[in-house]
Amino acid sequence: MARGRAVILQLICVVLAVLSFSLVNADDPYRFYTWTVTYGTLSPLGSPQQVILINGQFPGPRLDVVTNDNIILNLINKLDEPFLLTWNGVKQRKNSWQDGVLGTNCAIPPNTNYTYKFQTKDQIGSFNYFPSTAMHRAAGGYGGLNIYERPRIPIPFPNPDGDFTLLIGDWFKTNHKTLRETLDSGKSLPFPDGVLINGQAHSTFSGDQGKTYMFRISNVGMSTSFNFRIQGHTIKLVEVEGSHTIQNIYDSLDVHVGQSIAVLVTLNQAPKDYYIVASTRFNRQVLTATATLHYTNSQTPVSGPLPAGPQNQFHWSMTQARTYRWNLTANAARPNPQGSFHYGQIIPAKTIVLANSAPLINGKLRYAVNSVSYVNSDTPLKLADYFNIPGVFSWNSIQGTPSSGPSYVATSVMQVNHHDFIEVIFQNNENVMQSWHLDGYDFWVVGFGSGQWSQAKKRTYNLVDSLTRHTTQVYPNSWTAIYVSLDNQGMWNMRSAIWERQYLGQQFYLRVWNQVQNLANEYGIPSNALLCGKAVGHRP
Ligand SMILES: *[C@@H]1O[C@H](CO)[C@@H](O)[C@H](O)[C@H]1NC(C)=O
Ligand SMILES: *[C@@H]1O[C@H](CO)[C@@H](O)[C@H](O)[C@H]1NC(C)=O
Repeated sequence: MARGRAVILQLICVVLAVLSFSLVNADDPYRFYTWTVTYGTLSPLGSPQQVILINGQFPGPRLDVVTNDNIILNLINKLDEPFLLTWNGVKQRKNSWQDGVLGTNCAIPPNTNYTYKFQTKDQIGSFNYFPSTAMHRAAGGYGGLNIYERPRIPIPFPNPDGDFTLLIGDWFKTNHKTLRETLDSGKSLPFPDGVLINGQAHSTFSGDQGKTYMFRISNVGMSTSFNFRIQGHTIKLVEVEGSHTIQNIYDSLDVHVGQSIAVLVTLNQAPKDYYIVASTRFNRQVLTATATLHYTNSQTPVSGPLPAGPQNQFHWSMTQARTYRWNLTANAARPNPQGSFHYGQIIPAKTIVLANSAPLINGKLRYAVNSVSYVNSDTPLKLADYFNIPGVFSWNSIQGTPSSGPSYVATSVMQVNHHDFIEVIFQNNENVMQSWHLDGYDFWVVGFGSGQWSQAKKRTYNLVDSLTRHTTQVYPNSWTAIYVSLDNQGMWNMRSAIWERQYLGQQFYLRVWNQVQNLANEYGIPSNALLCGKAVGHRP
């Protein structure tokens, strides 16, 4: 009898184990990582400062994976503050549990660890990861995340002869805790001190004359857009955040905060060294970083003036953005063409208009969306939702259209229906650049325009071959329109990618909700989920 019960127990255990494993597809390869996060001292701009290292490296290790790989990544936090990484652009299908933002995960306390488990499902392209907690991003902790195609999935260009990842961003010499105090006291951050390429003021990329190289470029900065160009060379755009593009040739490209692009460069010039340049945009003060493109048969160091960036500010950039098109006949991560889903023929179920602002609340600078400035709760919203914990956030604490009332702080969640197809307008009535990001998704960027958006502007949309991406810029006193297919149930962060704005409240969560709770739509809570705030004492 006792033996029989033991067998049944064993059986139940096996069934449970099989169930929990089926959450990630067992047919796809597993990749295991252990990453330790520490402080270190480096001098990226000449003077020593504290930076955040992962396994002793800044930038952190490059995560090179293949479509549908299962990532098991144990993150050990050796900082003096709670820490999380988020996987910028990884769609985390059915799995907002692993998104690594404070609305979905408890931060990993100092001297403890958390094992992320996620799949890079149905994606190919250039992405990155970075710390989502506090102002840690200002100290580093970021790295490249490249998802390569599976065998037999052709990509719409010959395999490049080499593949470089360039993490480019503005940088402060000031410690991240001091920057945080500045923001907490209700003041804006100063202008950055410099721009780094892969954590350095000077790096070199070498290639053979006549060969073609891929440069995967991400803006990992805090606040400023940059323009990227290479002396004496043109660049061919091939991929934007997982979309294969029409392969236009450019002299230079603007990359806004949080965005990624991949370009091909053919080393078809005389054998010498050439400047690679990234210079900040849209501010009177311009910061410039250079690196070297070295021909392996070159005897001549870099020389001559740096290639000039675009003179015109916003009009040039918006015009360029409109030239980014999807290659409709190219494969996506699966062997079906990207254009086989006719997004332009779907009537959106609703239109949400999001207006950003910079109000003073209780005498301190905050940033707001539709007059609501987001504050983190001590309990991740995803956990509060799962355990039915009241008082953590309120439904519809944020409206789907701009309000004229006074701004206030709230833990704002907007509910939308799973499987709806919606239109979102980012209306920027401020005189500064915006960059908006949505976790868990990519979306069609269907239109850019100046002034106030109105229904009439729909006539200007590209409803044929807009590309999908996870982060879009919005020009000053302008709007950007996106279409989103809400096919990923969960709690997803919609935020400014400009970190000061995100930190001071320009964000909220989209609860993509389905009445029917089904593991086919959304995975259950991971068994190792960290619990904090009001979720302590509940059982995952
Ligand atoms: C922390 O690491 C240990 C040992 O590697 C592992 O067994 C454990 O599951 C990890 N904790 C979490 C919460 O993932
Ligand atoms: C689009 O992709 C197809 C299929 O891979 C490729 O043959 C074609 O050259 C691409 N078109 C453009 C304009 O980039």
